[in-house]
Amino acid sequence: MKNILVIGANSAIAKAVSRLYAEEHCRLYLLARDSALLAQLKQDLEIRGAAEVDFAPLDVTHFSLHEAVLEQALDTLGSIDLAILCHGSLPDQARCAEHFDAALEQFNVNALSTISLLTLLGNQMIAQGRGCIAVVTSVAGDRGRPSNYVYGAAKGMVSQYLQGLRGRLYRHGVHVVDIRPGFVDTPMTGHLPKGALWSSPERIARCIVEGIGRKRHTVYAPGYWRLIMAVVRAIPDTLFKRVPL
Ligand SMILES: NC(=O)c1ccc[n+]([C@@H]2O[C@H](COP(=O)([O-])OP(=O)(O)OC[C@H]3O[C@@H](n4cnc5c(N)ncnc54)[C@H](OP(=O)(O)O)[C@@H]3O)[C@@H](O)[C@H]2O)c1
Repeated sequence: MKNILVIGANSAIAKAVSRLYAEEHCRLYLLARDSALLAQLKQDLEIRGAAEVDFAPLDVTHFSLHEAVLEQALDTLGSIDLAILCHGSLPDQARCAEHFDAALEQFNVNALSTISLLTLLGNQMIAQGRGCIAVVTSVAGDRGRPSNYVYGAAKGMVSQYLQGLRGRLYRHGVHVVDIRPGFVDTPMTGHLPKGALWSSPERIARCIVEGIGRKRHTVYAPGYWRLIMAVVRAIPDTLFKRVPL
């Protein structure tokens, strides 16, 4: 039986992932801001087969609470086989570009909170001598674009951090997975027009669970984004800066 910690558990992608693990009779500990929604999710996951589901509230920008909240999760689970970090927010890029306070708020949610949690989880997993940490970043972190470079920079920071963390934790039997979804139809992107490249949270969840199971390092979700982003990264800056993306 796997003991799984899910951070940002009320996100559409996290819910779809938790449902897949519930069907495998895993034990889950959920962290998210809204306790009423977590209580509903607990019921849903137990009906689907989860061995046990516990939860606690966490606003990830409350950095000073991270240690106590993770200790509580660990006490409840006994040990953590898998920690999945899924929280995030899509900023108003125009506002962030003009006001640093707005950008800082987004860096706190999308990067620094994650790095704070990863610091604690990394130490915990080293002490255990085993486990897996999976973080949902984004293809947006692969290259900065005018329309969302604050979000992209935050996600890119986490991806770079994960590369180093992976090497550090590898020596201790701990695996680190960077999950980079493309466009996913979730509440975060509810206001955006949809097209052919869009996926459902359920499809992304299957990519995530498979990638974790196969001990992948970087999972593009769905896989065709690996090719798309290879092309995007290969475009020279002299050309890329002229493309209104
Ligand atoms: N949708 C996409 O196209 C896409 C693409 C690439 C990557 N991603 C990433 O996928 C992950 C999941 O997002 P999603 O698409 O599933 O969207 P979502 O359903 O809107 O989930 C985002 C979650 O982040 C949580 N969150 C935001 N700020 C928080 C805070 N301060 N403390 C705790 N939780 C906070 C939200 O909590 P509340 O429920 O309390 O608001 C929400 O549950 C995110 O990391 C996102 O950046 C999404």
